[in-house]
Amino acid sequence: MKRPGIPLPLFLLPLMIVAALSAFSPARADEVPYETTPENVVEAMLAIAGVGAQDNLVDLGSGDGRIVIAAAKRHGARGLGIEYDSELVELSRRNAKREGVADRAKFLKQDIFDTDIRKATVVTMYLLPEVNLDLRPRILFELAPGTRVVSHDWNMGDWEPDDHAVVSVEDKKVYPLAHSTVYLWIVPARIAGFWRGTLSGPDGEERVVIEFAQRFQEATATLWLKRWTMAGSARIRGDAVSLTVDRSSWKEDAAPLLFKMRVAKDRIEGEARVGGERYLLRAKRLTN
Ligand SMILES: C[S@@+](CC[C@H](N)C(=O)[O-])C[C@H]1O[C@@H](n2cnc3c(N)ncnc32)[C@H](O)[C@@H]1O
Repeated sequence: MKRPGIPLPLFLLPLMIVAALSAFSPARADEVPYETTPENVVEAMLAIAGVGAQDNLVDLGSGDGRIVIAAAKRHGARGLGIEYDSELVELSRRNAKREGVADRAKFLKQDIFDTDIRKATVVTMYLLPEVNLDLRPRILFELAPGTRVVSHDWNMGDWEPDDHAVVSVEDKKVYPLAHSTVYLWIVPARIAGFWRGTLSGPDGEERVVIEFAQRFQEATATLWLKRWTMAGSARIRGDAVSLTVDRSSWKEDAAPLLFKMRVAKDRIEGEARVGGERYLLRAKRLTN
């Protein structure tokens, strides 16, 4: 296990090589080296996720426990650190006790891939690019919509972040030097598939089937109406869906409808207003 504080360049070199090689030979989770997130970057991670007293934060690979402890101490959150190095788990527990947050900052000696993360409202990680990708299907399909996921330095491949921030780090000893990037993703509701319901507006109500094709937080939509179809595009942020519907197939000069929608389990509902007119779109998920 590498420890911070070992003088350069002996310490710097292996980490840079691991990071560079990971592009060519996928890293395994057990190759993630121990390196701590600088305190100002910890704060930036918690800030970009908007961590607060109502949150359950899980740090995957928690090292000395600093992210979980900061979330509990400075933001009033409950936190769980998952770490497979038992010495680091013991160190984290001592640190949490010293900081007076042992009741809200817990640590488990466990492999992150064997951990149930479904109750988390915030997940943080400082791992490696390939390990983030290994975790990606679990993040997308196990976590509740709206869960915030924050990664220090490594992104999630072609799943674009919803936000990011670059933070200066003067004495950073690992790649990339001099700064850190923190990335935020908000787990999107899974809306892909068919939904049946109604579209109502100034001219009355009509039955509609909505077909969504989704990739991460983006979706395309087809609205199947009695005599025509309308195309749409959507952006998903947790359970909130912003759906823009192009009405030119109905009337060439008709302005698009911008629906602000919410998904709750098997229902989606929202309204759009244009030129003093109000449209309501509501539908239930079709299961076959
Ligand atoms: C780069 S450190 C980050 C430590 C801490 N999260 C921070 O940001 O300061 C990554 C940590 O993940 C742990 N780790 C790596 N793979 C793991 C796995 N599969 N299960 C549990 N812990 C793991 C390592 O032991 C190491 O402590």
